[in-house]
Amino acid sequence: MTNRTRILTGITTTGTPHLGNYAGAIRPAILASRDSNADSFYFLADYHALIKCDDPLRIQRSRLEIAATWLAGGLDVDRVTFYRQSDIPEIPELTWLLTCVAAKGLLNRAHAYKASVDKNVETGEDPDAGITMGLYSYPVLMAADILMFNAHKVPVGRDQIQHVEMARDIGQRFNHLFGQGKEFFTMPEALIEESVATLPGLDGRKMSKSYDNTIPLFSSAKEMKDAISRIVTDSRAPGEAKDPDNSHLFTLFQAFATPAQADEFRSELLGGLGWGEAKNRLFQLLDNELGESRERYHQLIERPADLEDILQHGAKKARAVATPFLNELREAVGLRSFVNQVQVAATTKKKAAKAARFVSFREDDGSFRFRLLAADGEQLLLSRNFADGKTAGQVTKQLQSGQPLDVRNEDLSFSVWLEGECVGDSPAFADAAARDAAIEALRVALTPVQD
Ligand code: TRP
Repeated sequence: MTNRTRILTGITTTGTPHLGNYAGAIRPAILASRDSNADSFYFLADYHALIKCDDPLRIQRSRLEIAATWLAGGLDVDRVTFYRQSDIPEIPELTWLLTCVAAKGLLNRAHAYKASVDKNVETGEDPDAGITMGLYSYPVLMAADILMFNAHKVPVGRDQIQHVEMARDIGQRFNHLFGQGKEFFTMPEALIEESVATLPGLDGRKMSKSYDNTIPLFSSAKEMKDAISRIVTDSRAPGEAKDPDNSHLFTLFQAFATPAQADEFRSELLGGLGWGEAKNRLFQLLDNELGESRERYHQLIERPADLEDILQHGAKKARAVATPFLNELREAVGLRSFVNQVQVAATTKKKAAKAARFVSFREDDGSFRFRLLAADGEQLLLSRNFADGKTAGQVTKQLQSGQPLDVRNEDLSFSVWLEGECVGDSPAFADAAARDAAIEALRVALTPVQD
């Protein structure tokens, strides 16, 4: 993989994107993807959607709308990898591998799960009433999303920071258990866009579907206008000075304006601009900023087959990374082909045989001897003395010829015999078990390798 920064984020496909989603997540992600040092993976988290929503039509509609929103917003799909989570079968597979190492205690602490339990307890229900395994395992699926592509940076909202931390935790555990020194997974970091993460809604609280205070993004100009007219303001009359710093209408304006436009609007508010007129200004600004994208959005929504093609293409790109990586992970945990396994065993043997070595040397009296050392350097055998090097060489050859070894136990050591003659002795071992292990090592070391 490259050493560029991999940025990855997903959006759960349960609703229609609103202005807050756009300003807080989609727009900054599109901008970030244009950095030449960034490798971006953006996806529709439609498996996550199933956890929260059991309405198939809504899921389907939302996937289409969110895909069109990314593209209408200017995402360049040749540059980034843009896909649907559910088109990548490696993700649920990885989820299982991670589930098997994720601590249950870790998941017990997940905010979303805990909140549901607390609510049940409060209302006197069974603590787990209505809680699915999907909700419980949500962070593991998210960890798989992130770890599958070894993301460095994960732009998310504050409520998701804990999940990114859990991904680190789970990934680290997998690395530790199966990596054998190799770090399979990169440790991801949550990236919070401080400036935009808190786009206010109509009532001034965070813009969110669950507060029913959103401004629609691409539906139609009229709907956007209607929503803006419902922005809550204070009761200062036209002509009275407004306080821009305590007005979420101004905050919304600022999120889409150039600094110069924002300054101008600020002085107009200070100068007594009426709220009705102020809402008009906000609408004009948003319509200018988003009108063209809105048109592109509606064109895209009307060509679902084109969107399908784009996403299939994205899935192909994503799987070009995911498939080989998952194969590596399967190997690591022991889900290996039997065919490969035989080869693995054979290579191990070959290595052992290769690694075990004869070291010959000459004694002061001119005779020749050799030692047989195991792979780890342990001495398995010290030969008797031979008159010349040639004889010693012949003995080592014969020992490796594959003929049955004549090994005789001598209390805590053993000797090796060839044609009725003792040719070598082992050192003394601590106990019979150590002696027997050494005999076994000797046999492995002397077994000829069959290719
Ligand atoms: N859980 C995220 C949310 O609701 C969506 C999501 C799923 C995600 N998988 C992810 C975000 C991986 C970042 C990375 O906002």
